[in-house]
Amino acid sequence: MFITLEGPDGSGKSMQIPALAEFIRSQGYEVLTTREPGGTNIGDQIRQVIMKLGNTSMHPRTEILLFCAARAQIVEEVLRPALQRGVVVISDRYADSTLAYQGYGHGVDLEELTRLLKFTTGGLRPDLTLLLDVDAETGLRRRQTSGGEWNRLDAYALSFHKRVREGYHQLAAAEPERWRTIDASQAPEMVQSCIQDVVRQALAAHPQ
Ligand code: TYD
Repeated sequence: MFITLEGPDGSGKSMQIPALAEFIRSQGYEVLTTREPGGTNIGDQIRQVIMKLGNTSMHPRTEILLFCAARAQIVEEVLRPALQRGVVVISDRYADSTLAYQGYGHGVDLEELTRLLKFTTGGLRPDLTLLLDVDAETGLRRRQTSGGEWNRLDAYALSFHKRVREGYHQLAAAEPERWRTIDASQAPEMVQSCIQDVVRQALAAHPQ
């Protein structure tokens, strides 16, 4: 089963994933966690180019192709082989991030992006996508105070991050059978408990 976590910056996805992985293991499954952009040797090199604060002149189409290049690599090198072995894969971001950030955030044509994403992923789609939903102001405040990496993409304007969040809402509404929205403004333990409820049901419905 392929599970992806999506959400605006500062939604706390990355912090929730280790406990989620532990929970799924406790249910008797083998689990693999990955993140985008990155997650492979080639993908991590691409990530550095995307994130570097100094790369201010990067054209939006260049940025899209870099995200997609890293994704094409992880799909073939890591995700597909693991899924074929019956492993439960949890990815911190996947193709929906490109639709939310580059599509809704930067206004790139959604149909064109969808075609590109199909090419990039070879058609590999998540079985379950968790949207960790938090408003843009709260998310950015968390990013700035967490002491974590502040990258070129965090530096986009608040209005951009608002469009990203709205985009996620639209994506989730368009495919309700795949998406589950979780209120990520709650305390981290509450968020984890909601995530586990959703995943428990999904595992029961998708016997490996
Ligand atoms: P990262 O530091 O991994 O943050 P997060 O913990 O929020 O995932 O940065 C990833 C950034 O890249 C984040 O701002 C979202 C952005 N992004 C895109 O714009 N498009 C994409 O396709 C992906 C995968 C990420």
